Amino acid sequence: MQQRKVLLDCDPGHDDAIAMILAWGDPRIDLVGVTTVGGNQTLDKVTRNALAVATVVGMHDVPIAAGCPRPLVRPTRIAPECHGESGLDGVDLPEPVVRLDPRHGVDLIIDTVMAHEPDTITLVPTGPLTNIAMAARKEPRIVERVREVVLMGGGCHVGNLSAAAEYNIAVDPEAAHIVFSEDWPLVMVGLDLTHQALATDDVVSRIAAVPGPVSDFVLGLLAFFRESHRIAQGFDVPPVHDPCTLAYLIDPTIVETVPVPLSVELTGTHTLGMTVADFRSPAPPDCRTRAATRLDHHRFWGLVVDAIDRIQKEGR
Ligand code: BDR
Ligand code: CA
Repeated sequence: MQQRKVLLDCDPGHDDAIAMILAWGDPRIDLVGVTTVGGNQTLDKVTRNALAVATVVGMHDVPIAAGCPRPLVRPTRIAPECHGESGLDGVDLPEPVVRLDPRHGVDLIIDTVMAHEPDTITLVPTGPLTNIAMAARKEPRIVERVREVVLMGGGCHVGNLSAAAEYNIAVDPEAAHIVFSEDWPLVMVGLDLTHQALATDDVVSRIAAVPGPVSDFVLGLLAFFRESHRIAQGFDVPPVHDPCTLAYLIDPTIVETVPVPLSVELTGTHTLGMTVADFRSPAPPDCRTRAATRLDHHRFWGLVVDAIDRIQKEGR
């Protein structure tokens, strides 16, 4: 089986936690590192959350390192309205037994990319892009070595932090600009796609049908996420954004993408942090950016359910 080597850069966060679980539980993903970034909550909190999630799923041999606490230029902007005061409200978090890697997250990204063969490491950012931008600036050679950047962020026709901009991009638009401009293949798994990843009642039943501690944990996450999204964003059932990145890597027929030039708005009064997709004409043959468009909802959640089941049965 062809495995994809993935470094997950995240800010757990309910949907980040489910992305960790999918990355850990699916045999087609080889999770080689996890880095955290200030985003949904403060860096201290999201890092503790990452270690707690790793403890829940028994992820003992994957380095986890804390990265940047705040955006490159702008002030921190956390999201307690979606993720609560802890960043993972709704579940009892265990005291982490998984230890933090002593390296800075940016250095773990660089070390990982430089230590592996070129074209083997895929970066999967599911938070603000601060760490990835810093890594590209600190060690520019990573850009030609990374196989692909598959990020959750942005959107072609929709925002959530503002009418035009999605949270991960809008929180650190300068970092996003760096990441979108570097010469690596990039897939934007944006809100157009992730708003299809709804945790419906049927999804909750499917997760409940594989009972165990990880299933209980995910059900707790989804229950809180449902209520917070109902209040904060008017959703009946919540979109679970971040694991869609992994689904694309596991099986691109589950997450359809199209090539399209993408850029990040840095100066707009009403559009700061918007990802601008240029659909005016067919993308040029050398276009290295893609946007996700359509999700196979049933099969996507099947991946998540299978990952939960596998972790409970096999330890992963
Ligand atoms: C993104 O923002 C965060 O709150 C979520 O974890 C996700 O990465 C969705 O806009
Ligand atoms: Ca996130």
